[in-house]
Amino acid sequence: MIDLIPGRFEGQVALVVGGAQGIGKAIAVRLASEGARVVIADIDRAMMARTAAEISAAGGSVRTVVCDVQKKPQVQRTVVKIIRWYKRIDVLMFVAGVSKDTPFVETDEKLWDLTMSVNLRGGFLFARAVAPQMIKQRKGKLVFMSSTNAWDAEANFAPYNASKSGLYLLAKTLARELGPMGINSNAIGPGLIRTRLTEGVRKDPTFMKKYENLIPVGRIGEPEDVAGPATFLASRDADYVNGVLLFVDGGQLA
Ligand SMILES: NC(=O)c1ccc[n+]([C@@H]2O[C@H](COP(=O)([O-])OP(=O)(O)OC[C@H]3O[C@@H](n4cnc5c(N)ncnc54)[C@H](O)[C@@H]3O)[C@@H](O)[C@H]2O)c1
Repeated sequence: MIDLIPGRFEGQVALVVGGAQGIGKAIAVRLASEGARVVIADIDRAMMARTAAEISAAGGSVRTVVCDVQKKPQVQRTVVKIIRWYKRIDVLMFVAGVSKDTPFVETDEKLWDLTMSVNLRGGFLFARAVAPQMIKQRKGKLVFMSSTNAWDAEANFAPYNASKSGLYLLAKTLARELGPMGINSNAIGPGLIRTRLTEGVRKDPTFMKKYENLIPVGRIGEPEDVAGPATFLASRDADYVNGVLLFVDGGQLA
């Protein structure tokens, strides 16, 4: 059961990149239900439309932009549109990401480049695009979806692990550089969460048994388990939180 904080994001504009499904969707739903005007940017038009319809049906404010985070003109167009619509951007949630379980000796440049391009370069492009507006406002919250893999290297995920620790260092750099301008920058590190991304590994009972034993809370996470901590980092309660990687992993890394 989630304790909503009604009105927490009233008057604020929140961009959720990768909000069509999974963790990003849970964050978009939570932000809208707490009063934010949410914009979802995602490459998956159909899922995004479905999510937006759910948010609207529940009385939330939501708009969508089809955007591939790898394409700079699309990223810039997304941000320009939001500023045209609302004249401001208070929150950037960079959640879009890809991963593929591949032994290192089978990892080619194509997989390396795609993973870096979506997970890390996409985060850079979006932060770069919203920062001037946030600096003008002297207010803004940047939240990057990293992973426990930023810290605890998982075998068979070399590009993913590197992209997620890169994203954390990007968050920390922006915390230092943009902090004096009223902008907070933080990262979230989820453990194993029940989404499309983890469908493959979750089908393997041996993996699941072993994995669940590593988590003190005794279960894997749901997207809503991540939405609460992510929205906390986007909220005024987190005005003095800057440059952290907040693990949301049931204690897996404890
Ligand atoms: N599920 C987990 O266990 C887990 C754990 C740690 C971190 N994460 C991170 O959380 C984020 C969300 O993952 P999820 O599990 O919800 O996955 P998901 O596959 O359910 O959702 C990812 C979203 O990103 C979008 N996306 C992918 N490539 C894109 C692109 N090029 N341009 C725009 N949008 C794009 C997808 O369309 C999708 O809506 C990812 O960054 C992932 O690495 C997930």
